[in-house]
Amino acid sequence: MKRFILAITGASGVAYAVRLFDSLKGRAELHVVVSERGTELLQLELGMTAADFSGEGVTRHKNSKINTAIASGSFRADAMVIVPASMGTLGRIAAGVSETLIERAADVMLKEKRKLILVPREAPFSTIHLKNLLALDQAGALVLPASPGFYQKPQTVDDMVDFVVARILDQLDMDQDLMKPYSP
Ligand SMILES: Cc1cc2nc3c(=O)[nH]c(=O)nc-3n(C[C@H](O)[C@H](O)[C@H](O)COP(=O)(O)O)c2cc1C
Repeated sequence: MKRFILAITGASGVAYAVRLFDSLKGRAELHVVVSERGTELLQLELGMTAADFSGEGVTRHKNSKINTAIASGSFRADAMVIVPASMGTLGRIAAGVSETLIERAADVMLKEKRKLILVPREAPFSTIHLKNLLALDQAGALVLPASPGFYQKPQTVDDMVDFVVARILDQLDMDQDLMKPYSP
């Protein structure tokens, strides 16, 4: 079974994280960390709490508690996804700041050359945001913006969420039936 770290930070679009979690639950070992602002956005956008990320094979970690297994390079995660990824968290990771568990786990993924998928949501981007995204790409992360396409003719918000989550699952090498491959 694959082992993934799922981090939720304080950007809009927590629905992407919930859909990803539901798609992976039972199919992978999941380690979930929600930042303080991520907790607020979960409540604001979906009326949910971090405790809703639970189930068999799921471990929740406190973002304030660094002294945990996933903070070490000896924890061999197959991938880490930060979704949604706030510009604040991305800026701190790009700068090598590792004060929270999310920042440290991401730092570990980069130093160990493991897969780190970042799903930012911000508009517009400032020069600082763009520089940080470039630095993270150059350090080995994959930037997969939360920008749903429209060529599959989405009918609902869920369809648009699925578009992005399907892309994340593809990058995790996990089978998905959320979105069929494009066929003209
Ligand atoms: C209602 C609300 C919506 C926000 N949306 C975004 C967003 O879409 N993208 C973003 O980068 N920051 C957004 N922010 C700002 C972040 O929450 C803020 O920078 C926070 O410090 C990030 O903390 P974290 O990275 O530890 O989760 C939003 C804040 C609020 C209160």
